[in-house]
Amino acid sequence: MAIEDKIQELMDMRDKARLGGGEKRIESQHKKGKNTARERIEMLLDEGSFEEFDMFVSHRCIDFGLKGQDYLSDGVVTGYGTIDGRLVYVFSQDFTVFGGSLSEMYAMKICKVLDKAMKVGAPVIGINDSGGARIQEGVKSLGGYAEIFQRNIMASGVVPQISAIFGPCAGGAVYSPALTDFTIMTKDTSYMFVTGPKVVKTVTGETVTDEQLGGAMVHGSKSGVTHFVADDEQEGILLIRKILSYMPQNNLEDPPIIPCDDPIERIEDALNEVIPSDPSKPYDVRDVIHLITDYNEFVEVQRHYAPNIIIGFARFNGQSVGIVANQPKYLAGVLDINSSRKAARFVRFCDAFNIPIVTLVDVPGFLPGTAQEYGGIIIHGAKLLYAYGEATVPKITVILRKAYGGAYDVMGSKHLRGDINYAWPTAEIAVMGPRGAIEILHNKELSEFTDEKERADFLNKKEDEYRNKFASPYVAAKYGFIDDVIEPRNTRFRIIRALQSLATKKDAMPPKKHDNLPL
Ligand code: HXC
Repeated sequence: MAIEDKIQELMDMRDKARLGGGEKRIESQHKKGKNTARERIEMLLDEGSFEEFDMFVSHRCIDFGLKGQDYLSDGVVTGYGTIDGRLVYVFSQDFTVFGGSLSEMYAMKICKVLDKAMKVGAPVIGINDSGGARIQEGVKSLGGYAEIFQRNIMASGVVPQISAIFGPCAGGAVYSPALTDFTIMTKDTSYMFVTGPKVVKTVTGETVTDEQLGGAMVHGSKSGVTHFVADDEQEGILLIRKILSYMPQNNLEDPPIIPCDDPIERIEDALNEVIPSDPSKPYDVRDVIHLITDYNEFVEVQRHYAPNIIIGFARFNGQSVGIVANQPKYLAGVLDINSSRKAARFVRFCDAFNIPIVTLVDVPGFLPGTAQEYGGIIIHGAKLLYAYGEATVPKITVILRKAYGGAYDVMGSKHLRGDINYAWPTAEIAVMGPRGAIEILHNKELSEFTDEKERADFLNKKEDEYRNKFASPYVAAKYGFIDDVIEPRNTRFRIIRALQSLATKKDAMPPKKHDNLPL
């Protein structure tokens, strides 16, 4: 064969591979409002940067009529490219080939990507759209999944791993995304569940749709399995590109510093007015976040889940940070099971990838009640405490208003190796709120009152005394638990100065095989 013919053969094979499961199935994919695996990679990566691996791989199965039914690439497109000029590895499942189902060779392709990303220290992005294990391949497919899981585990905390769910993701297939750092689901076109509606009906008798069982909003608001809910694939892809910009390439590097024109000494008078004079009145802590960050930008993570705590990425003078903030607007910003788990995982992600943590505190305590106790608030609250205590990245905490009880300790306190702890003059730092404290301290006297008005007057007087003594930052400041009481309008400047002073911070945990985080 002449060289021209050989090259033509190569081109023909490439064209064939690019067609995946064929025109008809591509059309059907588009009709569902979904893009193909290759179109998604094109949207994700910098133009012309994609280098594909294993285009000519096909499966080795001869059972169940699969002999001769080959599709080049075998249902998953893999390789590397760049996002904003930074190297990333990628795999994108191709629903047009056997429903994107995972075969032995398909798993090998994903494992190759993960192995290479680990060798060079680059993030991995997986785009999921698959009917799960390729039924015809049986246990080889199951083995393939576990090979991927093992690599996800090895890569955890070494390179950032992001999963997009742009179609079905069911059965054991859900566990690879669950092992990664961030998951993004699209509304209406994606779902995730361990067992589908049919099995649910058989086992529990419940009737549910795919959407009700595992749609994007279900996982965005009820289970917390997904970190982002995107309106469509385009938005999902943009989110991936955006969150990656806050992350380093791997755990040995720092996140990129983005040149910043937003003045570091920007004074925000509105911050002096943000805390309502009535201590029981809520406000939106997002207003505080937006006023202090570069260009007022904040990428919120798990926006719809456990809204009593806010987490997300922002920058201060171009330096990437993770923000954790109690949200007084929802359940008064109380810490409960879900908010503790949500924030703990985020703090651990930031710590693993050298992203400093800025904590904004306004917390009345842990949520009381049987539901919380039976659900294990002790263990789950301990997760957040643990995450803060083990984190060695720079940790800056600002107490805006309430910091009561155990929640004071948990939320990035000085005692958990907080580096710089500030409080606004509106801060109230005490073992518990005034009413609860007085009812316990004066229990006996209160029970002896026969006149209700006299009892109320006594209670109010004692509450005032308590508030005057403890509802301020100055007792904590007296003991050095607070490094300074700052004027709210200067918060941006003070945080930036603190971050600058901590740029060379070194801290560590003692040598150990691994920790025993309360799970
Ligand atoms: C082989 C599969 C497949 C699979 C789909 N296909 N799933 N082929 N193995 N798991 C094929 C179909 O035969 C069809 O082929 C094409 O993909 C598209 O499928 P449709 O059913 O026509 O598409 P749709 O109506 O959109 O439904 C998609 C679906 C459904 C909901 C994903 O296909 C489905 O329920 N599939 C089975 C899901 C499943 O039970 N998987 C195993 C889970 S157990 P043609 O030739 O017609 O285009 C598991 C264990 C993993 O994953 C454990 C790891 C630890």
